[in-house]
Amino acid sequence: MCGIVGYVGKDNAKSVLVESLKRLEYRGYDSAGVALLTDEGIRTFKKVGKIRDFQVELNKINLYSNIGIAHTRWATHGKPVINNAHPHLSCDGKVALVHNGIIENYSSLKEELLSKGHNFVSDTDTEVIVHLIEEELKSENSFFSAFLKALSRLKGSFAISVITVLEPDKVFCARKDSPLVVGLGDGENFVASDVPAFLPYTNRVVFLEDGEVAVLSKDEVSFYDFSGVPLSKEVMTVPWSISQAEKGGYKHFMLKEIYEQPKAVADAIRGNSGWFEEGAPLDFNFEQLEGIHIVACGTSYHAGLIAKFYIESFSRVPVNVDYASEFRYRDPVISDKTLIVGITQSGETADTLAALRLGKERGATTLAICNVIGSTATREADGTIYTYAGPEISVASTKAFTTQLTSLFLFALWLGKVRGALKQEEFESLYGELLELPSKLESFLNTERKEGTVKELALNFYKAKDVLYLGRHVNYPIALEGALKLKEISYIHAEGYPSGEMKHGPIALIDERMPVIFLATKGRVYEKVVSNMEEVKARKGKVISVLNPSCKEANNLTDYPIYVPEVNEFLSPILNVVPLQLFAYYIADFLGYEVDQPRNLAKSVTVE
Ligand code: G6P
Repeated sequence: MCGIVGYVGKDNAKSVLVESLKRLEYRGYDSAGVALLTDEGIRTFKKVGKIRDFQVELNKINLYSNIGIAHTRWATHGKPVINNAHPHLSCDGKVALVHNGIIENYSSLKEELLSKGHNFVSDTDTEVIVHLIEEELKSENSFFSAFLKALSRLKGSFAISVITVLEPDKVFCARKDSPLVVGLGDGENFVASDVPAFLPYTNRVVFLEDGEVAVLSKDEVSFYDFSGVPLSKEVMTVPWSISQAEKGGYKHFMLKEIYEQPKAVADAIRGNSGWFEEGAPLDFNFEQLEGIHIVACGTSYHAGLIAKFYIESFSRVPVNVDYASEFRYRDPVISDKTLIVGITQSGETADTLAALRLGKERGATTLAICNVIGSTATREADGTIYTYAGPEISVASTKAFTTQLTSLFLFALWLGKVRGALKQEEFESLYGELLELPSKLESFLNTERKEGTVKELALNFYKAKDVLYLGRHVNYPIALEGALKLKEISYIHAEGYPSGEMKHGPIALIDERMPVIFLATKGRVYEKVVSNMEEVKARKGKVISVLNPSCKEANNLTDYPIYVPEVNEFLSPILNVVPLQLFAYYIADFLGYEVDQPRNLAKSVTVE
């Protein structure tokens, strides 16, 4: 996830900005850049790689300025190379800009600006913003009004900071769906995507809300809405240490990442909706597609199991899902009409890479579903769908999983349309429901934050020896994922099973000490799941259920309900997994384990 910093004040901006960027390193990045306003105009410096190397280079440059902006980039549009690193400049070099987020309408804006003679040097969506401001300056009478005019044309998410020689003592900032916070100092002011950036200088902060603008000068900060109407904002004092601040005040990265899911899912939707207008996510004759093999490991494998339902139901293309470590040894049937889809958050998992390579060797086309731009999978596959989760630091995967599902859902919808298997009204209804998903995730998480239902449940069960997770249809893989999360971080034995299969074995385990977690939300198998609940109840098992408030029958059989908002059954896994992530998290935390770095596990497994 990109990091933004801006500074105006009494100190050497170069040092303040680079030190501040270092405190945003935890967000993950692949390149960094700084723009400083000097008497000779704006000077920019950029580097791919580590900030400490960048700092060494900058220290050798003798340059003093009191105002500047800086950025760490985590690539979304365009590879991690110097030209794509921020800050980006207007054609005349008078405006420099850094951005965090995704500009959805960048292609049409770029076309328009190219036709007006603007010269682009990067592949980023960001660069359109700075050229747009430059274009608006031709007709507007102040920089501020040109800035506002440009904002009004942007679709998508953005946190932006801008400096310009036209207003040499100001930093202009704006926020929509991407965080930005102002730090108020004494004779100096700061802006950043996160508080730790400027915490050694000040803990007096103003959080910008969506649709708000801040204009910083050395001695004051003014706030406006996007139409330029002044706002008065509350100043808060942040009581955090730097390490607490990196986690946004959350105790662990895992909890922060769980709570980031509404935004991550919204970003995955934004980032992957373009195919419906712009065409295929990769060069392949999809009409001739005969079958898909999905290969993946761990949590990504569970995303693959759900993707099978999506792709087969929406596009009628047959799908096999394999553990990548098994695929390569089972002599799969592959042809040039086969698509091999490798799902991998990191893009570096050795087994998944090997499975993709095998597919390629046998003449198939390969597609990576990946979160890390420029990773091996994205370089080697014929095409990539990015998941836009932002860096995931906790070893146990949460937001990477829900964004994989979101991206795969969109891919299946797209494939269904292209293959003519999905009617326009079905497409519109499914897509419409997907668009509502981020707010439903938000609503569940807000309720949990206030009421702590899952936390309390974890307190009841953290001493359990075994936990059984049961679900059917698209929620069977969620049972597997819930069990995996618990195993990974709390070291409690857990198993996921299709609930209809319970009677063929696991039912023997059930007694009054056995917690059984059911995924019992509305859908085609709801009544079947209710019958399976009866079987557990009859054997005195403790029933915990993830269900909708309207699920009366399930509720009557449940000892510990967790209510989630009702969504389309195909989207329910993306919502239902969240309480299971929280359940595993709180149990591990109550047991006092290292939640973010569980024993024996690695974030990315680069050996077979
Ligand atoms: C490791 C991680 C898991 C992850 C799996 C696959 O085992 O601990 O959280 O699901 O690798 O990783 P990938 O990066 O390929 O999705």
